[in-house]
Amino acid sequence: MILEIFPAKELRGSIQVPGDKSISHRGVIFGALSNGTTRLKNFLMANDCKSTIEIFRKMGISIDIQKNNTVLVHGKGLKGLSEPTSLLDAGNSGTTARLLLGLLSGQNFDSILTGDESLRNRPMDRVSIPLRQMGALFDTGIKGDFLPITIKGSNRSGCLKPIDYTLPVASAQVKSSIILASLYASGSSTIRQPTLSRDHTEIMLDTFGGNIHVDDDNTITIHPTTQLYAQDLTIPGDISSAAYFITAALLAPKSQIVLENVGINPTRSGILEVYQSMGAKIDIVKNNQATKEPTADLVVRSSSLNGTIIEGDLIPRLIDELPIIALAATQAQGTTIIRDAEELKVKESNRIDSTVNILKSFGADIQATSDGMIIRGPTPLFGTSVKPGSDHRTVMMAAIGGLIAKGSTIIEDAQWADISYPNFFSELEKLRY
Ligand code: S3P
Repeated sequence: MILEIFPAKELRGSIQVPGDKSISHRGVIFGALSNGTTRLKNFLMANDCKSTIEIFRKMGISIDIQKNNTVLVHGKGLKGLSEPTSLLDAGNSGTTARLLLGLLSGQNFDSILTGDESLRNRPMDRVSIPLRQMGALFDTGIKGDFLPITIKGSNRSGCLKPIDYTLPVASAQVKSSIILASLYASGSSTIRQPTLSRDHTEIMLDTFGGNIHVDDDNTITIHPTTQLYAQDLTIPGDISSAAYFITAALLAPKSQIVLENVGINPTRSGILEVYQSMGAKIDIVKNNQATKEPTADLVVRSSSLNGTIIEGDLIPRLIDELPIIALAATQAQGTTIIRDAEELKVKESNRIDSTVNILKSFGADIQATSDGMIIRGPTPLFGTSVKPGSDHRTVMMAAIGGLIAKGSTIIEDAQWADISYPNFFSELEKLRY
């Protein structure tokens, strides 16, 4: 799909961004493993989460999609999944693939997990290495640990072995994969994290009645459990989706918008801290603080920004927002340096290269480094034609670029926004004043 985007004179209004992608996936997974029916309100009905739903349906879990983005997962308990009769397809979703590799390792049946072309080229060894240490058996192709992978559950005798594993990189997908496998281990497992990454799995396992403990030094211990209990959950708005509109309102002239009920879990809210330190006018009006997944309404106004340095422990707390933050940095006074972000290279695209290439074609002064980018601003952006390929986050970043560039911008591959934000372009138009 090819779209033309015109500059915005002013953005006004209030929107509710869709439910959090990471939490939606986990809601289906823990719902399926629980006894009883889990109700997930404000579920993200986007392609990635639909892939997770389809996979669980193929393993015998009945899932009803109701009106208003409510999903009912009729769980069958920790040992209730059944052997799929066809391939399990994670589509474009790295989270689905990596979390499912952990879960499927603990089942006593065989399964084959695959994905689309982009996902088949993303590394799975980050999860297969610790999972093999737990006794998981995988058959891979000649390329090594890339999808499609056969998980040989039926050849394993008994439970998986517990593990004590230090994550080489702070990755929520890797720790979550090990946590899910640990539910099928013969004893308690320990995961040591170099830096805190998003903690939705830990929160959700605890909420569903699992036995998980997180120490002050970010060490996670998972004890065996026999049963999880169905829950009624309202999923917060996705801060990673809100990031596009936050940035649009900061950069477009005379703008003021409200984003309602956005999740502000501290492991995800790095973008708010960075933007505020750059001079952004963002008011965080807190709503429901009683839950472990707190939400807030965000009031965002046009702002003059200054360059900054983004590095270290901050990176996992805003990893998916770095392409859109890079766009904001092109409009900030001074130099912005993003470092310690090598992980960007193994996302839906190599996001250091793809972000730099897209922003360069708008006329930005941006340079790729081995672990991030250097951006000098402010530079005027000019409408361009971009082909972001199958990376939803760079598609949406380019669209916001088009809003603040002079002239019109052509975006090819615009349909890929559906991976995480099905109504993205119509919501964007609603904010034009
Ligand atoms: C995710 C974790 C992040 C993030 C991805 C979603 C998750 O990846 O980039 O979009 O839901 O666990 P890593 O933490 O593995 O870098």
